[in-house]
Amino acid sequence: MTVSSAPGKVYLFGEHAVVYGEPAVPCAIERRARVTVDARDDGRLRVQAADLTLDGFTVEYSGDAGGAPDVDVPSGLVRAAMGYIDGAVSQARDAANQPDAGFDITIESAIPLGAGLGSSAAVVVAAIDAATRELGVELTNEQLADRAYQVELDVQDGQASRADTFCSAMGGAVRVEGDDCRTIDAPDNLPFVIGYDGGAGDTGVLVAGVRKLREEYDFAANTVSAIGDIVRHGEQALADGNIEELGRLMNFNHGLLEALGVSSRSLDTMVWAARDADALGAKLTGAGGGGCIVALDETDATATALRFTMGCEDAFRAELDTEGVRVEEP
Ligand code: PMV
Repeated sequence: MTVSSAPGKVYLFGEHAVVYGEPAVPCAIERRARVTVDARDDGRLRVQAADLTLDGFTVEYSGDAGGAPDVDVPSGLVRAAMGYIDGAVSQARDAANQPDAGFDITIESAIPLGAGLGSSAAVVVAAIDAATRELGVELTNEQLADRAYQVELDVQDGQASRADTFCSAMGGAVRVEGDDCRTIDAPDNLPFVIGYDGGAGDTGVLVAGVRKLREEYDFAANTVSAIGDIVRHGEQALADGNIEELGRLMNFNHGLLEALGVSSRSLDTMVWAARDADALGAKLTGAGGGGCIVALDETDATATALRFTMGCEDAFRAELDTEGVRVEEP
């Protein structure tokens, strides 16, 4: 048996613009997906999702997600979850050159699903790591990031940046611009506070919406480039440890995402609740449409305000996680 875990992430800056070649800076957070893998010799797969924001389901099948599992959760979510696991299993079989390997897989995740915190990337990275180790192969974090990215590309119909998977594999703050991915220095006491509205956005629809606006209006294309400028200023602020400046830039970044149509009433309400509580800055994280915001506040004021904000289902502090994927057992 092998157990690996990998962290979720917030976008400090740059989601959506990263799709068009601008840089983005995601940061890993101390909320992890944990994947347990046992090799089995009959070539079959048994997947148990114990703790996802989905209610939990178990499916047993022979290797492809074609046969719809008989479970009582929204089928779209199950199909997506199964696609990620199938992809991770294919990558592990390929890396170990054992095309017929079977596995029992258990997923436990403390990262809300589809909410902008990189839940799928964390599950895929941890699953590839655990499954390859179970087959006696050890990949580097960069190799894991690359294989996990191939899975995301496949499941998301070619619409994925390397940001989530690279950040989850490496940990800490990272900078992603196209295929150029690197870890960058950041203060390790960034005071992240997360607000979650209990919902999820449809990344494909939101990305398509921005693409259309960008093609239709020069000012929308300029808005996307302006997000790139914010990211470049943000990298400097990170390097300088200037948290006030980071907050100002996050506020600006949220405004531009809102202008591009990817915020929502609940995300805006949470952003304003954070600002009213004197957070240094606040913005949505990830694709938008619903899900999570991230704010910067060293005090408890923002988390407390968010807990009393209508439409906010959960609010919690999340430390920067300087460790990426790691083996938990053996
Ligand atoms: O919601 P998430 O965490 O999957 O982030 C999506 C980020 C986008 O920039 C909108 C798309 C991408 O693949 O980078």
